[in-house]
Amino acid sequence: MASSLAVCRLHMRGGGSFVKCLQKVDTFLHRSIATDVVAAARADAPRKEESDEKEERKSLHSLQVERQEQAERSVLISCQPRTNEKKFLKFLSKHGDVKKYFFYESYGIYAVVEFSDRESVASLLEGAAIPSVSHESTVPFKSRLLSLRNLDSPNQLSGQQCQPQTTITINELTQRLSREESVDQQIASLTKAYQLTEENSRLRFLVCSLLKDIAAAYFPECTIKPFGSSVNGFGKLGCDLDMFLDLDGISGRNIKMPKSGLSLEYQVKRANSERAVTQSILSVIGECVDQFGPGCVGVQKILNARCPLVRFAHQPSGFQCDLTANNRVAMKSTELLYLYGGLDPRVRSLVFTVRCWARTHGVTSSIPGAWITNFSLTVMVLFFLQKRSPPIIPTLDHLRDLAGPADKSVIEGNDCTFVSDFSKIQPQSNTETLEKLLGEFFEFYATFPLSRMSINIRKGKEQNKPEVAPLHIQNPFETSLNVSKNVNATQLDRFVVLCQESSWLLQQTEANTPRGGGGGDDATPWGLATLLLPSQVAGVKGRKKRRREPASERIKGLLESLKNKNQPKTS
Ligand code: GTP
Ligand code: MG
Repeated sequence: MASSLAVCRLHMRGGGSFVKCLQKVDTFLHRSIATDVVAAARADAPRKEESDEKEERKSLHSLQVERQEQAERSVLISCQPRTNEKKFLKFLSKHGDVKKYFFYESYGIYAVVEFSDRESVASLLEGAAIPSVSHESTVPFKSRLLSLRNLDSPNQLSGQQCQPQTTITINELTQRLSREESVDQQIASLTKAYQLTEENSRLRFLVCSLLKDIAAAYFPECTIKPFGSSVNGFGKLGCDLDMFLDLDGISGRNIKMPKSGLSLEYQVKRANSERAVTQSILSVIGECVDQFGPGCVGVQKILNARCPLVRFAHQPSGFQCDLTANNRVAMKSTELLYLYGGLDPRVRSLVFTVRCWARTHGVTSSIPGAWITNFSLTVMVLFFLQKRSPPIIPTLDHLRDLAGPADKSVIEGNDCTFVSDFSKIQPQSNTETLEKLLGEFFEFYATFPLSRMSINIRKGKEQNKPEVAPLHIQNPFETSLNVSKNVNATQLDRFVVLCQESSWLLQQTEANTPRGGGGGDDATPWGLATLLLPSQVAGVKGRKKRRREPASERIKGLLESLKNKNQPKTS
């Protein structure tokens, strides 16, 4: 997990007509989400027409297949700042029909171009030259990452308008939220501002596809799939790109040897363990990415980790990438989160809000350590939603009971079976608003017996902790493992104290009333915005003291006691 080098603001154009191409779509205003499935999710309308939405919901597998295919027909082109867009498209169109394209900025201007078919890509590449650079030598590695050279005189009208690649800052977000008229609208606004865009999602699949071309030098039939927050529906702009090198599709893997007659099998190298195989594959591919991968910098091979990986920055996209192999359980966790996020729009909105809140207060971090991870935090939100009455989402055991034969999955002896077809899952009758849920979430974890009980989304029930750990969240699939094993008591205490504080803040009528900030830049924070201001009881170093509403004596006393409780542990 890591934040990206930079977050790209992208502009997308429809394919075909040049007129259409010039139509700028501000992605900040028209953000669609990473997963097509939940695109219709509206945080301010908790009970929307389920029937309509169901039709849109695809399984993660179908979505991956569709996106991968799209990515294979796409190229990534570095453009000069004042490239004439019309000529650029005319040039591309010589090779075939351009279905979609968009520009974004990340260390220069880039265009993602999707052709209607792969032959067009082949034709485009055929005409591309290997650059000759004076005083330097180049690796003649051909890929779909290209540079556009000197197409036109630069002083012509530039069609493409790229915004700087910045994501909304926490201060901008606070201002934006302060101008909303209800907490539900604030949550919707936050989700909209932070979620991955359609373009960002396409770019993630394209980077996987480009990486696949490198790995294919050794394993032509491999695939590289994104997992984690890039596809689970909970990804924030700028989140890392987790990639999984999948060798299972290599033909011949599942062919059973006939019982009689002649047959052939490949001679292969043998190793002591699956882990050793994974390490050697990642080592070689990591080397290849490092030596030959255009745009891939800072390659680190972290092969002795519990889950061996190759980490690098993909400069043209701005993504921090983690490439793993043989990581099927994480793929299943991704699928599960995707399913939960697609069941009810409140799930994604609440997860986004809690993740943003946690990051703002330093409860989570991009640096590995004793912090709660986004994955653990998401499981905590899911558990809370299972505990509502009536529940908002079903237990994992229930999802397993609904599974069909095609859903059966056992990985390294762990039962990872659960339903993938949304239509088999009954909608829940809970109609609580997001405002209510947010307040209840903080209240729930402010008072939950975390010292004794383990969080278990398989059963939707807390259970006695099977081992000593400040925070115990049962791994949904590898049930003997604790996904929050890394969390120490100090970090957990901070989380609890912040939950207590946020719960009280949301209960303060005064702090929870829209201030009618209008369109100005200095709207007074209220509601959710106040929860994103620096904490008084669990402050993060270096943050300014915040201006608080006058608190009642009771709240003052309560905050004081929390401060005292927290001090010895945080100092
Ligand atoms: P961010 O990168 O923080 O936005 O979230 P993420 O969900 O992508 O988390 P991360 O990059 O840390 O991990 C990628 C994926 O690996 C997660 O979505 C999970 O599917 C899986 N994963 C991460 N940590 C654990 C863990 O402790 N146990 C299990 N079973 N899976 C994990
Ligand atoms: Mg991630």
